[in-house]
Amino acid sequence: MKVLVITGSAHKNGTSAYLAERFIQGAEEAGHEVYRFDAAFKDIHPCIACEKCHTDASVCTFKDDMNELNPHLIEADVVVLVSPIYYFDINAQLKVVIDRFYANDSLLHGDKKAVLMVTMADKSGATASGAIESFKGMTKYLDWEVKGSIIALNCMTLDMLKNTRYPNSAYELGKSL
Ligand SMILES: Cc1cc2nc3c(=O)[nH]c(=O)nc-3n(C[C@H](O)[C@H](O)[C@H](O)COP(=O)(O)O)c2cc1C
Repeated sequence: MKVLVITGSAHKNGTSAYLAERFIQGAEEAGHEVYRFDAAFKDIHPCIACEKCHTDASVCTFKDDMNELNPHLIEADVVVLVSPIYYFDINAQLKVVIDRFYANDSLLHGDKKAVLMVTMADKSGATASGAIESFKGMTKYLDWEVKGSIIALNCMTLDMLKNTRYPNSAYELGKSL
């Protein structure tokens, strides 16, 4: 299967990047083809709702790194969203990318699996409820099958994460696709 992993964090060696790495390791060992897109290091303009993508022109106003991502997004069998929790939700870098799905909305419905992985400092899962609910809503709207999620609590730093079961869960989830 073609697996697209989109990360949001600006920490190259942070907690969510580590979950992404472990997931990718499992997926590749299982024979899947993985494409990773680190949104924090890309040039992506926020959607301005100009609707140019939904006119006859059918193209986005912005010529930026979404042009790199879009073919992978359209072809992907599995889309994996990976983010630190910022103020009870996914971070802005990842959200900007998701909003730009809008330009290809009609091509994205159905026939995909989805995974959410988030890391956070809090010990309460309620802190991730915004991210979880929007993921649920988005996958239902796009008719994507939710393959799994990892909500990594009490993981402010990479050392804290490495002392938990979450990295192994990410590896197993990747392997189980
Ligand atoms: C701007 C900002 C907002 C944050 N908001 C929250 C929050 O609402 N709840 C929480 O538990 N942790 C919050 N954190 C902590 C991060 O989620 C946590 O440190 C995470 O492990 C960082 O992941 P990363 O290393 O992949 O970037 C916040 C961190 C930052 C920088």
